[in-house]
Amino acid sequence: MIDRLLHEEHLQTLATLNALESRLAGSGAKRPLDRSAPADRTLIDSLLAMFERETGRHFRFEEEHLFPRLDDCGFGQITAMLAGEHETLRQLAASLGRLAGTAGREDMSAAAWSTFRSTATELIDTAMFHIQKEEMGIISRLGMFLDADDSERLAVAYQKLEATAPA
Ligand SMILES: [Fe+2]
Ligand SMILES: [Fe+2]
Repeated sequence: MIDRLLHEEHLQTLATLNALESRLAGSGAKRPLDRSAPADRTLIDSLLAMFERETGRHFRFEEEHLFPRLDDCGFGQITAMLAGEHETLRQLAASLGRLAGTAGREDMSAAAWSTFRSTATELIDTAMFHIQKEEMGIISRLGMFLDADDSERLAVAYQKLEATAPA
């Protein structure tokens, strides 16, 4: 069902955000990403996968399929706020994705690392707050807006988007 699919993706995203946050903290704060270090390589790959999944089809699905259903139930103000946050997150993800992609191919300069850290911090804060709002405001209450058939239909629509849409 659609609430479970979205919830699972939120959990995956939170796990990647937590890994990113840990990498920026402590002694790691002074060390630019090193593509030859396995842990950094894994982080770069999971960041790029997260951007593809989360700011690609996940956002698109919410905007094109889920939010319109909530708008019909009188929640237009909330969905407008969430869609606005998607735009902010898309821009942050595009910047961070470019830096992560470059770090995967060449040595990362101190200046690029500094930009990466500040962009990542902003993205972590914005994305965590966004997911929290969706989880508490929408996912946990989806049963109030959708019956089981609707939920199933949306899950099928989402899987179709996943199978056909480029990120
Ligand atoms: Fe969202
Ligand atoms: Fe979401």
